[in-house]
Amino acid sequence: MSFDKFFYFKDEKLFCENVEVSELARTTGTPVYVYSKSAIINRINQYREAFKEYPTIICYAAKANSNLSILKIFREYGLGLDIVSGGELYRGLKAGFDPKKIVYAGVGKTDEELKHAVEAEILSFNVESFMELEILDSIAESLGKKANVSIRINPDVNPKTHPYISTGLRESKFGIDMEDALKAYRFASRKKNLNIVGIHCHIGSQIMEVSPYREAVEKLWNWFLS
Ligand SMILES: Cc1ncc(COP(=O)(O)O)c(C=O)c1O
Repeated sequence: MSFDKFFYFKDEKLFCENVEVSELARTTGTPVYVYSKSAIINRINQYREAFKEYPTIICYAAKANSNLSILKIFREYGLGLDIVSGGELYRGLKAGFDPKKIVYAGVGKTDEELKHAVEAEILSFNVESFMELEILDSIAESLGKKANVSIRINPDVNPKTHPYISTGLRESKFGIDMEDALKAYRFASRKKNLNIVGIHCHIGSQIMEVSPYREAVEKLWNWFLS
């Protein structure tokens, strides 16, 4: 569905839904960022529809916009949250997200950030390195908790998008190479305070074709079966 119905011109005036944007600018001052709640809900419904045959938790990447009012819309509509920092965890919890629907990726998690997320008992730490597994296990142990982990596997797939937002090529800093992934899972399985819950993969943003996703899933599936 096109976004024309949410943002459109009428008599040469820009509207967001039924609100004239220049009127908003007059009352709030500029610069002003305007979001359409209906457009967001529309997108949420498209994702729901696409995945309705599968048990799915759709997680909104907080990095896209972590404004609390925006986050609350996703929470109200039952989504989970994909975070990459302690700040995003803080905002997610403040917006009322269920920690059991929060997944935490990123190569720069600090000890303090890991600690807060272990305390919150999130759904999954999407772990990017052996070192992170080691640190997470010892933090969980010191808190007397178990941390849920998925390992972020780098499938070495070209997402056919801008190089700056490509995350799943071998040369990208993200994830563990497929050749080392089994070793990483074995390593994690020996850690008393880690609980393996899944496999994580992210290949990039603004991907306009299905084929890179298909290639990544096929590679992971073959890896899993091998
Ligand atoms: C783990 C993770 N989740 C989400 C995103 C945001 O990407 P998307 O455009 O797929 O929502 C990124 C971007 O790098 C990411 O690495």
